[in-house]
Amino acid sequence: MSSFKEKIDISRLPKHIAIIMDGNGRWAKERGYDRIFGHQNGVVSVREVTEAAAETGIGYLTLYAFSTENWGRPMEEVNALMELLIDTIEKETPTLNKNNVRLLAIGDLSRLPANAAKKLQSCIGQTSSNTGLSLVLALSYSSRWEIKDAICKIGFEMAKGNIKPEDVTDELVAANLTTRDIPDPDLLIRTSGETRISNFLLWQIAYTELYFTPSHWPDFRKENFFEAICDFQKRDRRFGKTN
Ligand code: FPP
Repeated sequence: MSSFKEKIDISRLPKHIAIIMDGNGRWAKERGYDRIFGHQNGVVSVREVTEAAAETGIGYLTLYAFSTENWGRPMEEVNALMELLIDTIEKETPTLNKNNVRLLAIGDLSRLPANAAKKLQSCIGQTSSNTGLSLVLALSYSSRWEIKDAICKIGFEMAKGNIKPEDVTDELVAANLTTRDIPDPDLLIRTSGETRISNFLLWQIAYTELYFTPSHWPDFRKENFFEAICDFQKRDRRFGKTN
């Protein structure tokens, strides 16, 4: 059986893949379980996809793990997601180091509970000198929050007279986003059949290729990830120009 992995042209890999991991709740409900069971199984897919990205040589993998809107979910679900995050980070830090993976985080991290923020910063610190895949967790993240935050920072500097309106360029805006040191995604994957962006990386996906799959996140495996890369490699990217 030929696999999608064999079909990947490693000379034309996407540098950055971002994923909206959707469908955990539906996956669990369809099996008669609580939504949290779906999130627990979603961690298996996080591990698979991180491994697949690292072994393929992808530079950046960004996972939308918790949006600013997710704070509005029932308290038990929010608490369970935070616990899962802490547990996973704790358990996986040695594996990240073993595989040369560097952990990064984007979002309004000041809203995370203290124990989650502490574990996250500790793992970021312990993996900071790794030079392979950069795994970026979007936590308490939303694009509108991020863009508002950038406007505030730029406005503050302008009010102090440090910058003028004509100094505002694409580069200056990008430098004030939480993704400031991360290249824009080449490919954005969303699972579970929904075809929306849900407040994710709106500035950064201006020229990103979009890929939607009906699989729910807990069913998403390495082969699905490789299939998305193969589909990406069929696209003709023109960035608004002609070929
Ligand atoms: C979306 O499914 C998923 C989330 C909001 C959370 C994703 C979290 C994980 C996979 C686990 C923890 C992650 C890490 C990085 C350790 P949904 O609940 O919106 O599903 P639904 O649309 O079917 O309701």
